Amino acid sequence: MSEGGRKLLEVSDLVIRYGAGPVVHGISLSMHESAVAAMLGANGAGKSSTMRAIAGLEPAQGKIVFDGNDISGLNAGQRFQRGIVYVPEGRAIVTDLTVAENLVLGSYFVDKNTRSQRQQMVLEFFPEIVNRLKSPAGLLSGGEQQMLAIGRALMSGPRLLLLDEPSLGLAPLLVARVYERLGAIQKEQGLTALLVEQSFHVAAKLADHAWVMRHGHIVGQLDAQAMRSREGRQQAIDAYLGARQETEEAVHA
Ligand SMILES: Nc1ncnc2c1ncn2[C@@H]1O[C@H](COP(=O)(O)OP(=O)(O)OP(=O)(O)O)[C@@H](O)[C@H]1O
Ligand SMILES: [Mg+2]
Repeated sequence: MSEGGRKLLEVSDLVIRYGAGPVVHGISLSMHESAVAAMLGANGAGKSSTMRAIAGLEPAQGKIVFDGNDISGLNAGQRFQRGIVYVPEGRAIVTDLTVAENLVLGSYFVDKNTRSQRQQMVLEFFPEIVNRLKSPAGLLSGGEQQMLAIGRALMSGPRLLLLDEPSLGLAPLLVARVYERLGAIQKEQGLTALLVEQSFHVAAKLADHAWVMRHGHIVGQLDAQAMRSREGRQQAIDAYLGARQETEEAVHA
């Protein structure tokens, strides 16, 4: 995280509940502009819920400040307009529409010139989809669909990109490719991104900061140095393995 950059996102005491008890218990985190951070943790830790709450897609208690303004009371559409763009788990592209139509969906409120400039930029980052513009998005491979989902998000000119498990269901080679492109986008555009991953090693390709979540709490935090060090890695992996083992015990109980 570039400590010199100004704060873009500040989340304080976020509580999320679906039914009786909370699934996220008052977590706080903040991000600087142009930083890439990751939320790590096992299944059910509350990673997606946290991201969805930041995007305004889940009701939550607590305070969310974006670019100096309290946005806690804004709905998802209003947050999207301010540049908070969520790429959901499982991609959620519209499979019946063409690739080009999916890209338009990400930019329906921008003018025609901006849209075509952004489309050109997206296609430069993801040449795999250039010749597929007229094909139904459902015919793309998993990796291409993930590139399209990220490309669609970029069409709106995001200020904060929330990426929920971009590696999900992809072969390692494709994960590497998607992450390599994300790295290029981050470098060229100075994009701020928060990503969710279950794998520390995948997240460490891009993120310079990570929070480890477990049972709705942040149980560990890694800075750039810790992300690259053996002890830091071990700390993160221990935090997971603990959670994984509990899950496994529950399954085998
Ligand atoms: N819509 C919902 N209704 C009820 N419970 C939910 C809902 N969404 C999530 N939960 C529960 O909240 C907890 C946190 O879920 P969440 O999806 O945030 O976890 P996650 O860390 O993203 O997990 P995964 O790695 O499996 O995607 C889980 O116990 C889950 O069952
Ligand atoms: Mg999730």
